[in-house]
Amino acid sequence: MARIETTSNRPYHLVIFGASGFTGQFVVEEVARTVSEGPNGTLKWAIAGRSKQKLEKVLEQAAGVLSRPELRSEVDIIVADVGEPDSLAAMCKQAVIVLNCVGPYRFFGEPVIKACVENGAHHIDISGEPQFLEGMQLNYSNQAAEKGVYIIGSCGFDSIPADMGVLYTRDQFKGTLTAVESFLTVKAGSEGGCIHDGTWQSAVHGFADSHTLLRIRRQFNHKPLPSVGSRLKRRSALFFSDEIQQYTVPFMGSDPSVVKRTQRYLVEEHQATPVQYGAYAGIGSLGNVLKVMFAGMLFWFFVKFSFGRTLLIKYPELFSFGLFSKAGPTKKQMDESSFQFAFYGEGYTEEQDPTKGKPNGKIRILVQGPEAGYVATPIAMVQAALTVLNEPAALPKTGGVYTPGAAFAKTTLINRLNKHGIQFSVV
Ligand SMILES: NC(=O)c1ccc[n+]([C@@H]2O[C@H](COP(=O)([O-])OP(=O)(O)OC[C@H]3O[C@@H](n4cnc5c(N)ncnc54)[C@H](OP(=O)(O)O)[C@@H]3O)[C@@H](O)[C@H]2O)c1
Repeated sequence: MARIETTSNRPYHLVIFGASGFTGQFVVEEVARTVSEGPNGTLKWAIAGRSKQKLEKVLEQAAGVLSRPELRSEVDIIVADVGEPDSLAAMCKQAVIVLNCVGPYRFFGEPVIKACVENGAHHIDISGEPQFLEGMQLNYSNQAAEKGVYIIGSCGFDSIPADMGVLYTRDQFKGTLTAVESFLTVKAGSEGGCIHDGTWQSAVHGFADSHTLLRIRRQFNHKPLPSVGSRLKRRSALFFSDEIQQYTVPFMGSDPSVVKRTQRYLVEEHQATPVQYGAYAGIGSLGNVLKVMFAGMLFWFFVKFSFGRTLLIKYPELFSFGLFSKAGPTKKQMDESSFQFAFYGEGYTEEQDPTKGKPNGKIRILVQGPEAGYVATPIAMVQAALTVLNEPAALPKTGGVYTPGAAFAKTTLINRLNKHGIQFSVV
């Protein structure tokens, strides 16, 4: 079985594809910052996208932000378009790892994965779209395994904090952990928080096409995971959480799907005890509850038909009460934002037999970090890539399509994140 060399003679260790996007720009800056750190100093990297002019501007901006004028001339540019398979193949042949920031992934992601698998490049993305992530697992697992290529999805805020947070909770618990609930809170400063339109588009198309996800899951034909401990009860659609002292709703992102896939992998490949998971997000005061309910109802109504989706995509600010915008967050908004995941776990302590009685132990974990979408996401993506490069022996034995938890369970990714501002700690 071919396994590609991480100390490869390919021209670039990292190629950032979609570098001209809102998120791509911050990934470029994070790579530039990280590559200048001691042990990573010899990494070779390039940026890629469909417009050479835009990519030159990306380097210009990064050079200004980081006061590193040499970036303009030292970082190479690769022109590649999702619609031109030859250009993707040429890009992938030059890279050890492609950091793919081109989304919505449901429209643009598959050709990039295909080119990576066929041309022996590992692939890391920041997708939060379960249809795409699970569909790629269904379609490319075998080919990626044959080629020794690692396709690791959801390596941004979706879903590294949640997926690695559950594994951290399991590892810190002295005994057998059986269930975890996570409560996400996001803090914003005086100008509030904002998310760029790219994520809004991914969400609109994802919700509109939820039946595809059901079809993909039927094709997997998974058996239910064995249940250990008390069954984790699903909370209601809106409740006041004692844990985070605010009104709370089930988290609608990709975290539950990603964590469940990781747990299945660990049960099937490593005979681990499955951890049940429930994900919730705080929405704040009663005033916010009314806003969220109203925006949610509008969203559900408009997302169902094509003209409604066109309106949603045309006017993100209007339909999301300013939470999403075509301009994305300002620097001040990003500087003043942060996130916190509180994990509440339960299980059987070492003295208690997990096949008998009720769980008798509890644990609380925090995962905290800077602004989620464009500060924490680039940090998580870049540290995931460096883990693939530096710790090949700790990755799963064969290539394949993996969640972060499945790929990185045995690596030092959490230590790396701790050193770069995404903190995991036991309370
Ligand atoms: N996991 C997370 O927490 C997280 C956080 C942030 C973003 N994301 C995801 O990241 C993705 C990008 O978001 P964004 O806000 O950065 O979007 P964006 O600003 O619209 O960026 C999209 C990028 O894709 C490129 N692109 C579009 N069509 C292409 C094609 N045919 N060939 C090559 N490149 C093409 C664009 O290139 P041009 O500049 O040439 O148009 C641009 O670089 C979304 O799916 C979003 O959900 C996830």
